[in-house]
Amino acid sequence: MHREPLKSNLPGKNFEKEQLRAVLDSADIHGVKNKYIDLLHKMAISKNLKLTGKELMLDFGCGNGRLALWFTEKVESIVGLDVNYELLKQAKMFCQEKNIKFLQSDGIGIPLLSNSFDFILSVAALQAISDAIIFEKNVGELARVCKPNGTIFAIEQVAKNVDDRRRTPEEYTQTFQQHGLSPVVNYPIRYGRSFFIKAVSLGIIPQFLLKNFAWFELNCTMFKKTPKISYHEQMMIFVKQ
Ligand SMILES: C[S@@+](CC[C@H](N)C(=O)[O-])C[C@H]1O[C@@H](n2cnc3c(N)ncnc32)[C@H](O)[C@@H]1O
Repeated sequence: MHREPLKSNLPGKNFEKEQLRAVLDSADIHGVKNKYIDLLHKMAISKNLKLTGKELMLDFGCGNGRLALWFTEKVESIVGLDVNYELLKQAKMFCQEKNIKFLQSDGIGIPLLSNSFDFILSVAALQAISDAIIFEKNVGELARVCKPNGTIFAIEQVAKNVDDRRRTPEEYTQTFQQHGLSPVVNYPIRYGRSFFIKAVSLGIIPQFLLKNFAWFELNCTMFKKTPKISYHEQMMIFVKQ
């Protein structure tokens, strides 16, 4: 299906730039850094996707629908859930596809039936929950609404060392395991302060090469087991037993 750009719904002069700034780096006024991160996220997800097109999907912490919109043609239907009313308002404007619904919830008591979703996504959402008890409850709720054999994809910023306020990949794994989810994929996809993101932010990389550059960074990074130079984003996939 060909989708026309949603020009009439633009929050600013440049739809994509403003949409990405609202959910990625708000300081990225040029939009290139966010465009790069967006490309890399989608590439990392695509690398592991095995969809039939019949899936019922939950986008936990969907923000303004950046990824939900991208998934509309890949799955049967999507529920985008977020605690932030303003971002949900934007999401409803941007994503007018018939197979998406949005729901406001803090994720502690998700008002949806157990065993409902084949595929659940959380990108930069669980990392935003600093309180350990609330985090644990959120993971429990994701596990509850996931169907048996269903999959949860999470891309979250993780700690470079124990002093970091972010969680470690092991903390994510343990919490998901406590709720009956087994880890099947677990690797870094992007360093917070890598040469790659610096080069992109400085505008050294021509825009037409961004995709190739993202592919190169993803493939360089995913084989490094213990990146220590900064926080990094981790791709984690869990399957419900
Ligand atoms: C950095 S944004 C990412 C949005 C989207 N996943 C994306 O990657 O474009 C994090 C989102 O998580 C949402 N969020 C944080 N804690 C949440 C919670 N407990 N329940 C639901 N949404 C939450 C925020 O409101 C925000 O929209």
